[in-house]
Amino acid sequence: MVNFKEEIAKIIAEHVDGLSAEEIQSMVEIPQDTKMGDYAFPCFKLAKTLRKAPPLIAGDIAAKIAENPIFEQVQQVNAYVNMFISKEEFVKDVVEEVLQKQEDFGKSNIGEGKPVIVEFSSPNIAKPFHIGHIRSTVIGNSINKLYKAMGYDVTRINHLGDYGTQFGKMICAYRRWGCKEDVIKEPIKTLLHYYTKFHEEVETHPELDDEAREIFARLEHGEKEETELWQWFRDESLKEFNRVYKMLGIEFDSYAGESFYSDKMPRIVEMLEEKGLLQESKGAQIVDLEPYGMTPALIKKSDGSSLYITRDIAAAVYRKEHYNFYKNIYVVASQQNLHFQQWIKIIELLGFDWAKDNIHVPFGLVSLEEGTMSTRHGRVVFLEDVLNRAVEQTREIIKEKGVNTDNIDETAKQVGIGAVIFQELSNNRIKDYVFSWDKVLDFNGETGPYVQYTHARAASVLRNAGEAAAKADDISNVNPEYIMSESAYELAKLIYALPQTIIDAGEKYEPSVLTRHIVDLAQSFNRFYHDEHILVDNEEEKISKLALVKAAKIAIKNGLALLGMEAPERM
Ligand code: ARG
Repeated sequence: MVNFKEEIAKIIAEHVDGLSAEEIQSMVEIPQDTKMGDYAFPCFKLAKTLRKAPPLIAGDIAAKIAENPIFEQVQQVNAYVNMFISKEEFVKDVVEEVLQKQEDFGKSNIGEGKPVIVEFSSPNIAKPFHIGHIRSTVIGNSINKLYKAMGYDVTRINHLGDYGTQFGKMICAYRRWGCKEDVIKEPIKTLLHYYTKFHEEVETHPELDDEAREIFARLEHGEKEETELWQWFRDESLKEFNRVYKMLGIEFDSYAGESFYSDKMPRIVEMLEEKGLLQESKGAQIVDLEPYGMTPALIKKSDGSSLYITRDIAAAVYRKEHYNFYKNIYVVASQQNLHFQQWIKIIELLGFDWAKDNIHVPFGLVSLEEGTMSTRHGRVVFLEDVLNRAVEQTREIIKEKGVNTDNIDETAKQVGIGAVIFQELSNNRIKDYVFSWDKVLDFNGETGPYVQYTHARAASVLRNAGEAAAKADDISNVNPEYIMSESAYELAKLIYALPQTIIDAGEKYEPSVLTRHIVDLAQSFNRFYHDEHILVDNEEEKISKLALVKAAKIAIKNGLALLGMEAPERM
């Protein structure tokens, strides 16, 4: 596809001394108001070198480039050269490009195969996988897909919370009050129950704490019995997590969680010692971070057991050595901001120049309309239940609507789960937000179902068009003059902007940039659909319009795929 910005910069560069085409390209703007052109070039910066008033410079440039056939019109307005691209060139170029690239449309190669790690989801073993986990899981999955689309070589890591002193407590509780069959039947609920019971009992029997500590020490030393129990808890929990990942269509390349680093920590402690970074404080080992305005980082407890932060330092060092990452991205709640600032600072203090390549992508809290959920207050809302409810309700809605689908179960799943994902990603990630059932499943709002419905509508137009739809694949059958109306042109512009939007969303680690654009695309398609008769008698006109419908359908589908959503053909 013609990169119009680049093309324009080249044309202007021929008439401006002292500025390279690249410099000019970085100055070219896309005006908010389309009346000011598709592109604009501000001339303020040139005034000094050319010793002329900016409006005069703009006038000169405008006069010189106006004849180029790439432009329909060039105007000077104050200090700006406003350029209108030839609509004919533009729509033809966009449609041709999309139809040729198909599922690859939107991809770029700015990543040049560089290795990137996206760590996301990372729930804790034997703890509920609740609605709060949806954020890291869904945002992380989309960021992973965005980076793949940008040409990076992405590794998806689930840094499971599968280690720590709480496993001493859990094993202790299981041995005292546990029942194997219960764990097998409902692993997480049962294990959580044991854990809670431990905390109740320890109030009156403080010796339980010592017992749990001892058990954890045995686990850290790799004693057979403790390790087997821990492994079993881990396997059972993972089975439950995987059920949810499957519903969401999410996969990981590695489940190397905290336990994976247990034997890699002594080395970290040694490194810290060598650099003189460790200090003793009340029998524990800490790194003083006061000079950097942070509380101290606790590296090793007085009983010798290791800590969460130490495992994160070990994980980063391991990942650098193993994957030689270009970027190591962590999609983790903003509640852990300090934790990430601390350990990334420590990596820097260890003298690693790649400290800056560890990137914490934080996000705000999600709450339900009924009120926030919290494991401590027992008001846990399981993510799996939320997804199931979304599918159930969607099934009811599409039944009522009398939607024609060959597989209602499959459609209800695609739309119900997609609705939850879309709502999750529509919000600026750093903001807290309230999960609302009414909003999620609104087919008319700026929602997942609305966008999917628009895609299905495009699919339906193409089905109804019969043979003409196939002819639209051949660009020589397309006459751009039929797709230059205001609504057609707006739609083509939004399609054209998708690849750059994907890059913007990726670089900002912000999928909501993409959800916004997909909503705009869908709304624009619907305007086109209402404004125009598509299946007209004139064969050439019909085929040309169908080509634009196809391009829009592909753009929406590819966009949804990067959010981790399906695009049903019928609904
Ligand atoms: N398991 C942690 C939790 O549920 C999140 C882990 C985040 N990742 C990390 N590398 N610290 O809070």
